[in-house]
Amino acid sequence: MTILQKLTASIQQLKKERNAIILAHVYQHGEVQDIADYVGDSLDLSRRVVNTKADVIVFCGVQFMAETAAILNPYKTILLPDKNAGCGLADMAAREQILNLKNKNHGLAIVSYVNSSAEVKAVSDICCTSANAVDVVNSLNYNSVLFVPDRNLGAYVAERTNKDIHLWDGYCYVHENIKSNKIQQLKEKHSEAEIIVHPECTTPVRHMADFTGSTSQMSEYVKKSFKKEFIVGTEESFIYRLKSDNPDKQFYGVNSFCEGMNTITLEKIKQALERMEYKIDVPEETSEKAAIALDRMLAVL
Ligand code: 13P
Ligand code: SF4
Repeated sequence: MTILQKLTASIQQLKKERNAIILAHVYQHGEVQDIADYVGDSLDLSRRVVNTKADVIVFCGVQFMAETAAILNPYKTILLPDKNAGCGLADMAAREQILNLKNKNHGLAIVSYVNSSAEVKAVSDICCTSANAVDVVNSLNYNSVLFVPDRNLGAYVAERTNKDIHLWDGYCYVHENIKSNKIQQLKEKHSEAEIIVHPECTTPVRHMADFTGSTSQMSEYVKKSFKKEFIVGTEESFIYRLKSDNPDKQFYGVNSFCEGMNTITLEKIKQALERMEYKIDVPEETSEKAAIALDRMLAVL
């Protein structure tokens, strides 16, 4: 047996003993995606956690994703294999600043991207993911919206709605670092390739793309496309998912990595199940308020 096979066997055994499932975001290392019971984008994973019969959910993603799972499943044990698996974007919005703005402007709806803390969700009217942000904003009775915390996703939404969108000044470094000249160089090298990008990319990059969408929307686009080559403007590990699902197609990445996502390993998953760590606990009052904003989102689509 190889080390990988032994590790995989131990994780499978521990999963049975704990009645656990493993969920993985599509930005996880390939070997983590391979061991997961379910691999998906933020929206898929949020939906998956509300339907599971497992007692324990090992969430292979970043802090805000595990927190979302805990909020939607207050009676289950949610484990994050590395307590330092953070999201730089989620750290860019603070509850107090949002409350101040909300108190000054009662006609403003607060829409928070799920890439935010539980405290921020708790003071939001509704949450969204990159897959449903436009539908969520269009579903509101409000005309003015404060979109928190990603200015790039907010700008993408603003181009697709008649609502008055106010942007929070946050961004994801993984996507902000994808520059138009990099995309241009790849296009010159692979002229037949289509450009697909995540809406967390900057507006100039988005405007160069043939398709902009969340990771699940990009997956769907690639599966349906007759094209054989794609330049992929998002976190590099997503290429693993695309290659696994479309072995006959070619993908050219931009070498941008998310530190928080990449910190999760098989060793850490095994340790998480052995030691039942790191448990995600969201204070009850925050969790109850955040759950309202998340449930409203899940009701939209
Ligand atoms: P998705 O909503 O496409 O899963 O993206 C989440 C994310 O963190 C993007 O950086
Ligand atoms: Fe956060 Fe960006 Fe990593 Fe997504 S890719 S988890 S937004 S830091």
